[in-house]
Amino acid sequence: MSHPILKNLSLPVVAAPMFRVSGPELVVASCKSGVIGSFPAKNPRTIEELELWLSQITSELEKEPSAAPYAVNLIARSDRLEEEIELCKRYKVPMVISSVGSPEKVVGPIHSYGGIVIADVATLKHARKAAELGVDGLVLLTAGAGGNAGWNNPFAFVRAVREFYDGLVVLAGCVMDGAGIRAAEVLGADLVFMGTRFIPTIESIADEEYKQKLIEVNMDDVMTTKSISGMTANYLRPTIVDAGLDPDNLPPYQEFNNSEHRKKRWKDIWSAGQGVTAVKEIVSVEELVKELSVEYNEKVKI
Ligand SMILES: Cc1cc2nc3c(=O)[nH]c(=O)nc-3n(C[C@H](O)[C@H](O)[C@H](O)COP(=O)(O)O)c2cc1C
Repeated sequence: MSHPILKNLSLPVVAAPMFRVSGPELVVASCKSGVIGSFPAKNPRTIEELELWLSQITSELEKEPSAAPYAVNLIARSDRLEEEIELCKRYKVPMVISSVGSPEKVVGPIHSYGGIVIADVATLKHARKAAELGVDGLVLLTAGAGGNAGWNNPFAFVRAVREFYDGLVVLAGCVMDGAGIRAAEVLGADLVFMGTRFIPTIESIADEEYKQKLIEVNMDDVMTTKSISGMTANYLRPTIVDAGLDPDNLPPYQEFNNSEHRKKRWKDIWSAGQGVTAVKEIVSVEELVKELSVEYNEKVKI
């Protein structure tokens, strides 16, 4: 599909929004490298800080007319959603990623200034519902992704959605290198979300120890559980052990959420997708995108 948002991209990639990981530097560096940079609106603690981030990002990107567009991730259940939408309107945020809940409240206001909305979905039912609400694209959350993940296999999910949907399709989950980006396109996706690969970049705001940990672990260390966030999510097993919990006997979500351990979620209990095996060193966003481009353009033969 040739959507205008795909112009100016060096690769069909979104540096995916990540809680406690994506900040303005990561967004700007991603856009300058030619991939869509993004961040969750809940990363800045206050609405005033969100405005500062938007102002910093827009003024940096104005200096680079060839930069890729950026995106803000709005959580449908956010208690400050109205204010976040107002700021997106004021700054004419080019793309909004709606997640955890219906994109219903977001579509109209973002379309009113020409922005586009893509919505996270993990099932065919939700994909159809979001499409009916008039979103411009669907982010298909699949098994093995970092953060709150899906459970469907990407081969089946992309093909099933393509049977009825001709908008933007974005594949999220375990796209770990240039081959994965190509494979997603072959399946019928227009773009991919890459989260895990962007955590250990110089520009990300993740803890240095978290970045280092990603180099040490591999996909066997990634485990799926609903106990920690209440949703299907992937975490690094060794960090669950370090937090004083038994990964094989985690308490049910309610119990976890009512305990002291709650504070360790995302802060000490770190998340990564199965694609973590591709992480070998901490690099700049520019270096990462260059490496992905070489793999995508030169090494992959189809
Ligand atoms: C640490 C971490 C935090 C995340 N936080 C968010 C978030 O706040 N909002 C969101 O929509 N997705 C979030 N995600 C999911 C990513 O946007 C993306 O879908 C996922 O990382 C893609 O899979 P990959 O990590 O295998 O590339 C998070 C992922 C990680 C690893």
